[in-house]
Amino acid sequence: MAVLRFPERFVWGTATSAYQIEGAWDEDGRSPSHWDTFAHTPGKTRNGETGDVACDHYRRWPEDMALMASLNIQAYRFSVSWPRILPNGGNQINEAGLDHYDRLVDGLLEAGIRPFITLYHWELPQTLQDAGGWPERSTVDHFVQLADVVSRRLGDRVHNWITHNEPWCTSMLSHQIGLHAPGWRNWPAALAAAHHVLLSHGTAVPAIRANAPQAEVGIAPNYEPAYPLTRSPEDIEAARIWDGYYIRWFNDPLFGRHYPADMVAYYQEKGYLPHGLNFVQPGDMETIAVPVDFIGINNYTRQIMSGKVSLDQFQTAASPNPNATYTEMNWEVYPDGLYDLLNRLHFDYQAPKIYITENGCSYGDGPDKNGRIHDTRRIDYLRSYLTGVHRAIGNGVPVAGYFVWSFMDNFEWSLGYSQRFGMVYVDYQTQQRLPKESAYWYKDVISHNQLETM
Ligand code: FCB
Repeated sequence: MAVLRFPERFVWGTATSAYQIEGAWDEDGRSPSHWDTFAHTPGKTRNGETGDVACDHYRRWPEDMALMASLNIQAYRFSVSWPRILPNGGNQINEAGLDHYDRLVDGLLEAGIRPFITLYHWELPQTLQDAGGWPERSTVDHFVQLADVVSRRLGDRVHNWITHNEPWCTSMLSHQIGLHAPGWRNWPAALAAAHHVLLSHGTAVPAIRANAPQAEVGIAPNYEPAYPLTRSPEDIEAARIWDGYYIRWFNDPLFGRHYPADMVAYYQEKGYLPHGLNFVQPGDMETIAVPVDFIGINNYTRQIMSGKVSLDQFQTAASPNPNATYTEMNWEVYPDGLYDLLNRLHFDYQAPKIYITENGCSYGDGPDKNGRIHDTRRIDYLRSYLTGVHRAIGNGVPVAGYFVWSFMDNFEWSLGYSQRFGMVYVDYQTQQRLPKESAYWYKDVISHNQLETM
C-alpha cells in the first residue's frame, strides 16, 4: 500500500446539474426547456422518464447540502436552470428562480462549501429552441445575457464560473447524433451549433469577469481520448479523426489554434460543411480564444479506434478491450486516459490550471438488508483515476481540484433513472438519500487529503 498526498489547498468536490436533480419543472415561474420537450416526447428517453421530479432537489436542497457538509465535501459544482431565471428566453428576470440559487449559494457558504457554477448544462428555454437554438447565432446573445444576470447577482460570493458543460454534447450529441435534445441529425447544424457555443463562451467570459472581478472563469469540455487498436495506418487514422472530431474541434479554437485544418478538410470532403466555415465571422476566433483561468476536464472513458469508418458509424466502431472492466454505461475503465489528458492539456495546450470537473462511474448497487451499499467497484474506479491524477501532478500538471460525478443518483438524460452515478443512493419512491460506501471512502480521502492505494 502506498499513501499519495495531494497538494495543500487541492479542492475536493462533487458535481450535479439542474435538470438531472431539481425536478419542480413547472414551479415558481420556470418555463419549459428543450430537455423538458425532448423528455416528454415518446421514445426519446428510457421508459419515457423525465426530469419532472428527479431528486426533488429544488425543495430538498437544504437536506442535500447538510449531507454534503457531513461528508466533508469542500466544493459543489451545480448548474443553473436557464428557464427558471429567464423564462421563455426573454429579458424578464424571474426573481423566484434567481432567488433559489441565491439561497443555495448562501447556504453552501455557510456550510463551508465552495460553489462552482455551471451556466449551461443543457437547458435551453424552449422558446429559444423554437427560434432555431444553438445553430442560430442569436442564441449567443441570449446566453451572454444569462451569464450577465447570474454573475451580477451571485458574483460577489461565487468565485468559480464555468460557462459551458461539454460543448461536444451540446452540439454533436444533440444535433448530429440526435441522442440528446433537440434530437437532430444534421451535420451542418451541429457544426454551426459548436461554433455558437464556443462563441458564447468567449463572449461571456469578460461579462462574468466584469461582474465578478475576483472570479476564476473557465469551461468544461468533455474529453474522450482515442487510442488506435494497432499501429496500422488505418487504425492511427481512425484515432486521429476521432480526436479531431471530439477534442481538437473544440480545444484548438479555445487555445487560439482555429479549427483544425485536417478536420475542416475531412468535413468538407464528407459534405458536412456545404457552405464551408460560413458561420465564422471576423473576430470570432479571437473572441473564442479569450484566455481562461482554468480548463475543466470531464472524463470517464476512452475510445479504441480501428479501421476505416465514417464518423456516423463511430458509435459502434470502437473496439472492446477484452482485458478491461466496463461500467454499466458500457464505458471502459481506463485511468491512464485521464492521466494522458492532463499531461496533454498542460504541456501541449498550456492550460494554466485544471480542475477535473467530472469523473465517476455508473454501477447499480443498492442497499443490502442492513441498508448498506457496498459500491466497491466505484471506490476502485475513483481510486484508480485519482492515482493517475496524482501522477500527473507529480509531472508538474497544475491540477487544482477534482469533482466526483455525481453527488447523488439522478436523471441520466436519455437513459432515464437506469444509471446510478451517485456516491449517495436515491430511492426515487421515497426520495430518501443513503450514502454509499464510496461516500464514506471519499470523506476519508478528503479529510486526510490523501489517497491510499492498494
Ligand atoms: C456527462 C454529463 C453529466 C452526466 C455524466 C454521466 O456527459 O455532463 O450530466 O450525464 O456525463
